[in-house]
Amino acid sequence: MKTVTIITSFIVAGILTAFFLGFNPVESTRTLEYDDEQEGLKEQMVIRFSHVAAENTPKGMAARYFAKRIQAKTDNEIQVEIYSNGELYQDQNEWEAVTNGNVEMIAPATTKVSTRFPDWQVLDLPYAFQGYSAVQEAYEGKIGQTLLEDLRGTNVKGLDFWYNGFKQFTNNKLPIHTPADMNKLHFRVMPGPVIKAQFQALNASTSELSFNKTYRNLEVGFVDGQENTISNIYSKKFYKKQAYMTLSNHAYLGYAVIINEDFWDSLSETHQHSLTEAMEETTDWVRRHSIEINDSHIRKIKRSSDMEVDVLTKQEEKKWREAFKPVYLKAEQDISKDLLKELERIQSNYSPQ
Ligand code: LMR
Repeated sequence: MKTVTIITSFIVAGILTAFFLGFNPVESTRTLEYDDEQEGLKEQMVIRFSHVAAENTPKGMAARYFAKRIQAKTDNEIQVEIYSNGELYQDQNEWEAVTNGNVEMIAPATTKVSTRFPDWQVLDLPYAFQGYSAVQEAYEGKIGQTLLEDLRGTNVKGLDFWYNGFKQFTNNKLPIHTPADMNKLHFRVMPGPVIKAQFQALNASTSELSFNKTYRNLEVGFVDGQENTISNIYSKKFYKKQAYMTLSNHAYLGYAVIINEDFWDSLSETHQHSLTEAMEETTDWVRRHSIEINDSHIRKIKRSSDMEVDVLTKQEEKKWREAFKPVYLKAEQDISKDLLKELERIQSNYSPQ
């Protein structure tokens, strides 16, 4: 009898509690909304990530992937605002923007870093990398590590390298097969000592123009051509203003992912860990997807334009390698011996067929 009384009183108490508090299993497990007045409940931080490329490119997609990963890992405590297409900062001023803390992250082409840090020129050397695995070995090995460490003491921290693809020449004057075809043509280039030397070796002239001014300069004929990855040629519609493209694969274009150091230091260890993990996952993603993004863009270019696309024969490629020898001689004065030795080691593993 006593037991029955106890059980009955539990049931009654349960019903009364449910009656006053309401039955809502969802409500009871839901996380609390962010409330400004409840200090420390959930701190939100914003990473402003500025870059100059289009959204449907390896870099644009990697930035979005990174944003999603870090938001998920930190339960939205870190948010990423992406400013693509140079809408906030252009090539010339994004470095200042990240060092001053006007944005927290940028991902410039490694070439653009080479104007400040000479060792970075090693990544621009023509035909430095025979294939994607060689690039990966450089980015993830001694070369990448040394270059990221180079940035120390400048209020930025180098996080990683992101992949795009090999560069191709486009122009509006003639099909380019041999170095001699470049004679006297005028090209838009990124700023970078090796790039300058490369075009000098080909007897072509250059103008350093920001990426987002390239289309206009091709359109008005201020420059005859440019060099870039297929995804950039496609997404920025350069192919619409160029009659010829040569699949030369003469150098690799990838990115240095850089974060403002004060911002990095302000993050808790847990957030630094989440950011590092999100970055590693993104780098892996963009390494695996950059090739297919570029491949799909060349198919789209071929389908939707009359641009002539030429491929170099092995014989022709030999001539280009020969023509680029002076570029190496010049760069040897700027790039440390250790890095050049490491490049040679990688090259010996992936020698041209
Ligand atoms: C260029 O300026 O051609 C490239 O660096 C653009 C980019 O960031 O991919």
